Amino acid sequence: MGQVFITRVIPGTAVETLREAGHEVEVWPEAGPPPPDVLAARLAAADAAMTMVVDRVTPSMLDTAPRLKVLANMAVGYDNIDPAEAAKRGVRVTNTPGVLAETTADMAFALLMAAARNVVASDRDTRAGGWTTWSPTGFLGQDVFGATLGIVGLGEIGEAMARRALGFRMRVVYTSRTRKPEAEARFGCRFVEIGELLAQSDFVSLHVPLNGSTRGMIGARELRLMKTSAILVNTARGQVVDQGALIAALRDGVIGGAALDVTDPEPLPLENPLYTFSNVIITPHIASASLATRAKMAEMAAANIIAVLAGQAPINPVN
Ligand code: DGY
Repeated sequence: MGQVFITRVIPGTAVETLREAGHEVEVWPEAGPPPPDVLAARLAAADAAMTMVVDRVTPSMLDTAPRLKVLANMAVGYDNIDPAEAAKRGVRVTNTPGVLAETTADMAFALLMAAARNVVASDRDTRAGGWTTWSPTGFLGQDVFGATLGIVGLGEIGEAMARRALGFRMRVVYTSRTRKPEAEARFGCRFVEIGELLAQSDFVSLHVPLNGSTRGMIGARELRLMKTSAILVNTARGQVVDQGALIAALRDGVIGGAALDVTDPEPLPLENPLYTFSNVIITPHIASASLATRAKMAEMAAANIIAVLAGQAPINPVN
């Protein structure tokens, strides 16, 4: 039997699954994450923890957690943990690949559509009493069908995005660490260098993990390569985009708009200039937030904890 700490209330039956496997489970009951000192104290007493993307687990926390065997991140991304530092201390790190790709792509596509057709801005205007007549020039947006979609990172979420684009008869270009001939054949997408992708695309959607080579990969230079009408969609990580450069680009009309499910930092403080642009949509990191998918992610994290505490290999190791 192990002591499991879960850093937030989670949907579905994962807590019961862990208890049925004989583990003692403590769930952090508050809406916000446990503060760093509380997280450190809980990790110090735990055999396993289920963590969220916003729970930054530092090497010094791991130094004071002698019993800890596994950090099961309830996310596909794991930039909140350094897997190599965890491995040095004998702590396995796991993630939740596969289960959230379609849900995340649904949201990325929803953001793309909403930005293209002014869904959020027109709703806001309607509620404020702005719907006084039918206007031939009101809220003119851009067509999605037939437009060019640039996918940055053709992993499982990028592929799910390409599949959706097919149904809209979009032209799809992509860039990725490696070429994906099979995906090219399946989705009719074309590999291009990042510069070409930015120059050709009406919509640019980011699907890369955050790491040393992707941090700040969309900066002032890259934004200047984009069409002045183009929309940047980010459901990856806020830090993939140089946010200062993005704000300047929006202010100067360098790009057409942005739809951001992730920002830097999160939550984005209300005084951030991004909130002042009517051509920007901001959602609170909810791309994987369907009830079914979040429950599956939690079950997957629980299954990893159960495996490691039973002395078995984790099912979804990242270290
Ligand atoms: C992930 O899984 O990495 C998302 O950002 C949260 O669902």
